[in-house]
Amino acid sequence: MAPPGSNGECTWRTRAFLSYGKPVLKKRFLTGRLTGKSGSGISASPVSTTVARERTSDEGSETLIVERTENPVWLSNAYLVATGPGGSGVLIDGNDDLGPLLERAERDGIEIGHVLVTHPHPDHVAGLDEARERLGGPPFVAHEATGAALGGEVETIAGGETLRSGELEIEAISTPGHAAGHLAFLVDGSDVFTADVLFKGTVGGTMAPGATGLDDLRDSVMKLMELPAETRVHPGHREPTTIGEEWESNPFVRVWRGLDEVGEEPCSVWGREATLKLWAPDYDGGNKAWVRFADSGEEAIVGGSQVERG
Ligand SMILES: [Fe+2]
Repeated sequence: MAPPGSNGECTWRTRAFLSYGKPVLKKRFLTGRLTGKSGSGISASPVSTTVARERTSDEGSETLIVERTENPVWLSNAYLVATGPGGSGVLIDGNDDLGPLLERAERDGIEIGHVLVTHPHPDHVAGLDEARERLGGPPFVAHEATGAALGGEVETIAGGETLRSGELEIEAISTPGHAAGHLAFLVDGSDVFTADVLFKGTVGGTMAPGATGLDDLRDSVMKLMELPAETRVHPGHREPTTIGEEWESNPFVRVWRGLDEVGEEPCSVWGREATLKLWAPDYDGGNKAWVRFADSGEEAIVGGSQVERG
Protein backbone atom coordinates (compact mmCIF):
# COMPACT_ATOMS: atom_id res chain seq x y z
CA MET A 1 0.00 0.00 0.00
CA ALA A 2 1.26 3.44 -0.81
CA PRO A 3 2.11 5.51 2.23
CA PRO A 4 -0.32 8.30 3.02
CA GLY A 5 1.26 11.73 3.10
CA SER A 6 -0.23 12.26 4.53
CA ASN A 7 -22.41 24.98 29.80
CA GLY A 8 -24.11 26.23 29.96
CA GLU A 9 -24.06 28.23 33.31
CA CYS A 10 -21.88 31.00 32.01
CA THR A 11 -22.36 34.01 29.81
CA TRP A 12 -19.56 34.56 27.34
CA ARG A 13 -18.53 37.61 25.42
CA THR A 14 -15.91 37.15 22.75
CA ARG A 15 -13.37 39.41 21.20
CA ALA A 16 -10.72 38.26 18.78
CA PHE A 17 -7.81 39.87 17.08
CA LEU A 18 -4.94 38.85 14.86
CA SER A 19 -1.30 39.73 14.90
CA TYR A 20 1.38 38.67 12.47
CA GLY A 21 4.96 37.75 13.23
CA LYS A 22 8.03 37.64 11.03
CA PRO A 23 8.35 35.10 8.23
CA VAL A 24 10.76 32.37 9.19
CA LEU A 25 12.34 29.54 7.28
CA LYS A 26 11.11 26.16 8.44
CA LYS A 27 12.81 22.84 8.40
CA ARG A 28 10.72 20.23 6.62
CA PHE A 29 10.62 16.81 8.15
CA LEU A 30 7.23 15.95 6.77
CA THR A 31 6.55 15.43 3.11
CA GLY A 32 3.48 15.19 0.95
CA ARG A 33 0.63 17.55 1.47
CA LEU A 34 2.12 19.48 4.38
CA THR A 35 3.78 21.90 2.03
CA GLY A 36 1.38 24.82 2.02
CA LYS A 37 -0.55 25.89 -1.03
CA SER A 38 2.49 27.46 -2.65
CA GLY A 39 4.27 24.11 -2.81
CA SER A 40 7.47 25.92 -1.89
CA GLY A 41 7.40 24.83 1.72
CA ILE A 42 7.22 28.50 2.76
CA SER A 43 3.73 29.87 2.43
CA ALA A 44 3.10 32.63 4.94
CA SER A 45 4.07 34.27 8.18
CA PRO A 46 3.12 32.56 11.42
CA VAL A 47 -0.29 33.65 12.63
CA SER A 48 -1.03 34.35 16.24
CA THR A 49 -4.66 34.60 17.26
CA THR A 50 -5.94 35.49 20.69
CA VAL A 51 -9.51 34.84 21.67
CA ALA A 52 -10.36 36.19 25.10
CA ARG A 53 -13.67 35.72 26.83
CA GLU A 54 -15.12 37.30 29.90
CA ARG A 55 -17.08 34.71 31.82
CA THR A 56 -19.64 35.77 34.37
CA SER A 57 -20.01 33.11 37.02
CA ASP A 58 -21.31 32.94 40.57
CA GLU A 59 -17.82 33.74 41.77
CA GLY A 60 -17.58 36.85 39.61
CA SER A 61 -15.90 37.62 36.33
CA GLU A 62 -13.09 35.50 34.94
CA THR A 63 -11.19 35.65 31.70
CA LEU A 64 -10.16 32.72 29.54
CA ILE A 65 -7.48 33.40 26.96
CA VAL A 66 -6.93 31.11 23.99
CA GLU A 67 -3.92 32.14 21.92
CA ARG A 68 -2.97 30.22 18.77
CA THR A 69 0.01 30.10 16.49
CA GLU A 70 -0.25 28.46 13.09
CA ASN A 71 2.81 27.00 11.45
CA PRO A 72 3.03 28.52 7.96
CA VAL A 73 4.12 25.27 6.31
CA TRP A 74 2.17 22.57 8.10
CA LEU A 75 -0.78 24.84 9.02
CA SER A 76 -0.77 23.09 12.40
CA ASN A 77 -1.77 24.96 15.55
CA ALA A 78 -0.25 25.27 18.99
CA TYR A 79 -2.20 26.90 21.80
CA LEU A 80 -1.74 28.79 25.05
CA VAL A 81 -4.86 28.54 27.19
CA ALA A 82 -4.87 30.67 30.35
CA THR A 83 -7.11 32.33 32.89
CA GLY A 84 -5.51 35.72 32.33
CA PRO A 85 -2.48 37.76 33.42
CA GLY A 86 -0.96 36.32 36.58
CA GLY A 87 -3.13 33.23 36.25
CA SER A 88 -2.88 29.58 35.31
CA GLY A 89 -2.16 28.24 31.86
CA VAL A 90 -1.42 25.19 29.75
CA LEU A 91 0.17 24.66 26.37
CA ILE A 92 -1.59 22.36 23.93
CA ASP A 93 0.52 20.71 21.22
CA GLY A 94 3.67 21.93 19.52
CA ASN A 95 4.04 23.21 15.94
CA ASP A 96 7.59 24.54 15.99
CA ASP A 97 6.14 28.04 16.45
CA LEU A 98 5.72 28.14 20.23
CA GLY A 99 7.79 31.31 20.72
CA PRO A 100 4.90 33.81 20.66
CA LEU A 101 2.95 31.68 23.15
CA LEU A 102 5.87 31.45 25.56
CA GLU A 103 6.51 35.18 25.23
CA ARG A 104 2.85 35.91 25.99
CA ALA A 105 3.01 33.70 29.09
CA GLU A 106 6.22 35.35 30.26
CA ARG A 107 4.94 38.86 29.60
CA ASP A 108 1.66 38.25 31.45
CA GLY A 109 3.11 36.22 34.32
CA ILE A 110 1.09 33.13 33.41
CA GLU A 111 2.13 29.98 35.25
CA ILE A 112 2.08 27.07 32.78
CA GLY A 113 1.41 23.97 34.82
CA HIS A 114 1.11 21.31 32.11
CA VAL A 115 1.86 20.69 28.45
CA LEU A 116 -1.01 18.74 26.86
CA VAL A 117 -0.42 16.60 23.80
CA THR A 118 -3.30 15.34 21.64
CA HIS A 119 -1.36 12.82 19.54
CA PRO A 120 2.26 12.24 18.57
CA HIS A 121 2.39 13.21 14.88
CA PRO A 122 5.44 15.40 14.20
CA ASP A 123 3.50 18.50 13.14
CA HIS A 124 1.83 18.48 16.61
CA VAL A 125 4.83 17.89 18.86
CA ALA A 126 7.59 19.92 17.15
CA GLY A 127 9.38 22.22 19.58
CA LEU A 128 7.75 20.85 22.72
CA ASP A 129 10.95 19.62 24.35
CA GLU A 130 12.54 23.07 24.00
CA ALA A 131 9.38 24.77 25.26
CA ARG A 132 9.24 22.53 28.33
CA GLU A 133 12.83 23.32 29.12
CA ARG A 134 12.21 27.07 28.82
CA LEU A 135 9.23 26.72 31.16
CA GLY A 136 11.18 24.86 33.83
CA GLY A 137 9.89 21.39 33.02
CA PRO A 138 6.12 21.18 33.52
CA PRO A 139 4.95 17.61 32.82
CA PHE A 140 3.50 16.43 29.55
CA VAL A 141 -0.08 15.18 29.81
CA ALA A 142 -1.09 12.66 27.16
CA HIS A 143 -2.75 9.35 26.53
CA GLU A 144 -0.57 6.36 27.30
CA ALA A 145 -0.18 5.62 23.57
CA THR A 146 1.05 9.18 22.94
CA GLY A 147 3.23 9.34 26.04
CA ALA A 148 5.28 6.42 24.77
CA ALA A 149 6.46 8.63 21.90
CA LEU A 150 7.38 11.61 24.12
CA GLY A 151 10.50 12.14 26.17
CA GLY A 152 10.61 13.50 29.72
CA GLU A 153 8.03 13.30 32.48
CA VAL A 154 4.58 12.29 31.20
CA GLU A 155 1.38 12.17 33.25
CA THR A 156 -0.94 9.82 31.43
CA ILE A 157 -4.62 10.59 31.13
CA ALA A 158 -7.46 8.59 29.61
CA GLY A 159 -10.71 9.63 28.01
CA GLY A 160 -13.27 10.69 30.62
CA GLU A 161 -10.63 11.71 33.15
CA THR A 162 -10.25 15.29 34.36
CA LEU A 163 -7.08 17.24 35.01
CA ARG A 164 -6.94 20.22 37.33
CA SER A 165 -4.18 22.60 36.26
CA GLY A 166 -4.20 25.62 38.55
CA GLU A 167 -7.55 27.32 37.97
CA LEU A 168 -8.25 25.36 34.77
CA GLU A 169 -10.37 22.20 34.62
CA ILE A 170 -9.59 20.03 31.62
CA GLU A 171 -11.51 16.93 30.55
CA ALA A 172 -9.85 14.45 28.22
CA ILE A 173 -12.16 13.06 25.54
CA SER A 174 -11.12 9.86 23.80
CA THR A 175 -11.16 10.54 20.04
CA PRO A 176 -9.40 7.70 18.17
CA GLY A 177 -9.59 7.22 14.41
CA HIS A 178 -6.89 9.54 13.08
CA ALA A 179 -4.45 8.10 15.65
CA ALA A 180 -4.63 5.51 18.41
CA GLY A 181 -4.90 7.23 21.77
CA HIS A 182 -5.88 10.55 20.17
CA LEU A 183 -7.41 12.88 22.76
CA ALA A 184 -9.46 16.05 22.55
CA PHE A 185 -9.27 18.40 25.53
CA LEU A 186 -12.32 20.27 26.85
CA VAL A 187 -11.24 23.27 28.91
CA ASP A 188 -13.62 24.71 31.51
CA GLY A 189 -16.56 23.24 29.59
CA SER A 190 -16.41 25.96 26.95
CA ASP A 191 -13.51 25.34 24.56
CA VAL A 192 -12.57 22.01 23.02
CA PHE A 193 -9.24 21.32 21.35
CA THR A 194 -9.89 18.69 18.71
CA ALA A 195 -6.50 18.35 16.97
CA ASP A 196 -6.73 16.10 13.90
CA VAL A 197 -10.22 14.66 14.42
CA LEU A 198 -12.45 17.66 13.71
CA PHE A 199 -11.62 20.77 11.70
CA LYS A 200 -13.70 23.69 10.47
CA GLY A 201 -15.72 22.16 7.63
CA THR A 202 -13.98 18.81 7.49
CA VAL A 203 -12.55 15.91 9.52
CA GLY A 204 -9.25 14.10 9.94
CA GLY A 205 -7.79 11.40 7.74
CA THR A 206 -7.79 7.76 8.75
CA MET A 207 -4.74 6.38 6.98
CA ALA A 208 -1.87 8.27 8.61
CA PRO A 209 0.60 6.19 10.65
CA GLY A 210 -1.10 4.83 13.76
CA ALA A 211 -4.64 5.50 12.53
CA THR A 212 -7.43 3.25 13.80
CA GLY A 213 -9.92 3.73 11.00
CA LEU A 214 -13.07 5.39 9.81
CA ASP A 215 -15.51 3.80 12.27
CA ASP A 216 -13.48 5.15 15.20
CA LEU A 217 -13.17 8.58 13.58
CA ARG A 218 -16.92 8.80 12.94
CA ASP A 219 -17.68 7.79 16.54
CA SER A 220 -15.17 10.35 17.82
CA VAL A 221 -16.61 13.18 15.73
CA MET A 222 -20.18 12.34 16.69
CA LYS A 223 -19.18 12.16 20.37
CA LEU A 224 -17.85 15.72 20.06
CA MET A 225 -21.16 16.72 18.46
CA GLU A 226 -22.84 15.92 21.81
CA LEU A 227 -21.15 18.98 23.35
CA PRO A 228 -23.29 22.14 23.62
CA ALA A 229 -23.69 23.94 20.28
CA GLU A 230 -21.95 27.06 21.61
CA THR A 231 -18.78 25.14 22.48
CA ARG A 232 -15.86 26.68 20.65
CA VAL A 233 -13.75 24.24 18.63
CA HIS A 234 -10.02 24.81 18.28
CA PRO A 235 -8.70 22.34 15.68
CA GLY A 236 -5.20 21.06 15.12
CA HIS A 237 -5.04 22.93 11.81
CA ARG A 238 -6.32 26.36 10.77
CA GLU A 239 -9.12 28.42 12.18
CA PRO A 240 -11.63 27.84 15.00
CA THR A 241 -15.27 26.92 14.66
CA THR A 242 -18.11 25.83 16.95
CA ILE A 243 -19.91 22.56 17.57
CA GLY A 244 -23.13 24.18 16.33
CA GLU A 245 -21.53 25.29 13.06
CA GLU A 246 -20.09 21.84 12.39
CA TRP A 247 -23.37 20.15 13.35
CA GLU A 248 -25.15 22.20 10.69
CA SER A 249 -22.63 22.41 7.87
CA ASN A 250 -19.79 19.89 8.14
CA PRO A 251 -20.40 17.57 5.14
CA PHE A 252 -19.24 14.43 7.01
CA VAL A 253 -21.41 15.22 10.03
CA ARG A 254 -24.38 15.84 7.76
CA VAL A 255 -23.99 12.37 6.22
CA TRP A 256 -23.56 10.75 9.63
CA ARG A 257 -26.70 12.58 10.83
CA GLY A 258 -28.57 11.02 7.90
CA LEU A 259 -29.26 14.39 6.25
CA ASP A 260 -27.22 13.94 3.08
CA GLU A 261 -26.54 10.97 0.81
CA VAL A 262 -23.14 9.60 -0.17
CA GLY A 263 -22.06 9.17 -3.79
CA GLU A 264 -21.00 6.17 -5.87
CA GLU A 265 -18.38 7.66 -8.23
CA PRO A 266 -15.62 5.28 -9.38
CA CYS A 267 -12.10 6.46 -8.57
CA SER A 268 -8.68 5.09 -7.72
CA VAL A 269 -6.50 5.73 -4.70
CA TRP A 270 -2.81 4.83 -4.93
CA GLY A 271 -3.72 2.67 -7.91
CA ARG A 272 -6.43 0.76 -6.02
CA GLU A 273 -9.93 0.78 -7.42
CA ALA A 274 -12.32 2.54 -5.10
CA THR A 275 -15.67 4.27 -4.82
CA LEU A 276 -15.73 7.95 -3.95
CA LYS A 277 -18.49 8.36 -1.36
CA LEU A 278 -17.88 12.00 -0.41
CA TRP A 279 -15.73 14.76 -1.89
CA ALA A 280 -15.40 17.48 0.74
CA PRO A 281 -13.29 20.57 1.43
CA ASP A 282 -10.12 20.31 3.50
CA TYR A 283 -8.55 22.83 5.87
CA ASP A 284 -5.73 23.63 3.45
CA GLY A 285 -7.94 24.67 0.54
CA GLY A 286 -7.72 21.20 -1.01
CA ASN A 287 -10.10 18.29 -0.54
CA LYS A 288 -10.82 15.36 1.74
CA ALA A 289 -12.28 12.19 0.28
CA TRP A 290 -14.29 9.39 1.88
CA VAL A 291 -13.61 6.29 -0.18
CA ARG A 292 -14.38 2.56 -0.15
CA PHE A 293 -11.71 0.26 -1.56
CA ALA A 294 -12.98 -2.35 -4.02
CA ASP A 295 -10.43 -5.02 -3.08
CA SER A 296 -11.01 -5.06 0.68
CA GLY A 297 -14.25 -3.18 1.21
CA GLU A 298 -12.36 -0.99 3.68
CA GLU A 299 -13.55 2.59 3.97
CA ALA A 300 -11.20 5.47 4.69
CA ILE A 301 -10.83 9.23 4.67
CA VAL A 302 -7.84 10.35 2.62
CA GLY A 303 -6.45 13.56 1.20
CA GLY A 304 -8.04 14.55 -2.09
CA SER A 305 -4.63 14.66 -3.75
CA GLN A 306 -4.46 10.87 -3.37
CA VAL A 307 -7.64 10.35 -5.40
CA GLU A 308 -7.84 10.02 -9.17
CA ARG A 309 -11.36 10.76 -10.34
CA GLY A 310 -13.02 9.92 -13.61
FE1 LIG B 1 -2.09 14.10 12.94
